[in-house]
Amino acid sequence: MKEISMIIRPEKLEEVKSILDEINCGGMTITTAMGCGAQKGMTGVNEIKGFKTTINLLPKMMVSVVVEDGAVEPIIMKVRERLATDHVGDGKIFIKPVEEAIRIRTGERGDKAL
Ligand SMILES: Nc1ncnc2c1ncn2[C@@H]1O[C@H](COP(=O)(O)OP(=O)(O)OP(=O)(O)O)[C@@H](O)[C@H]1O
Ligand SMILES: [Mg+2]
Repeated sequence: MKEISMIIRPEKLEEVKSILDEINCGGMTITTAMGCGAQKGMTGVNEIKGFKTTINLLPKMMVSVVVEDGAVEPIIMKVRERLATDHVGDGKIFIKPVEEAIRIRTGERGDKAL
């Protein structure tokens, strides 16, 4: 099992929900977030207005989903296909191994608990 954490533009949340629905994921967790990437949150506006800050945090959404290993690449492909624009700030995907999953109601473990 792997945890896929995706940090995305808030307006792309519905698209990601559709993708996760299409691959029949068993659940997801969504968190509102603030963050910056390589541009340190600069969009050009701050410099134009004359403000100087070292880092500017922008609103993002974090989507976390734990899936079977085989679902990872299809999700990455679909997210890139449907979320990539020509502009910086499209977001990032991080993949982590997940040791165990337990459905509390039934005690099912592993893939069966997803
Ligand atoms: N190395 C990182 N660690 C943790 N979070 C990150 C990291 N890089 C990006 N993020 C998160 O992802 C969000 C979007 O990042 P972003 O797409 O701007 O990445 P980038 O590396 O600057 O790529 P681009 O040049 O396409 O903008 C950030 O606001 C931040 O929340
Ligand atoms: Mg960026």
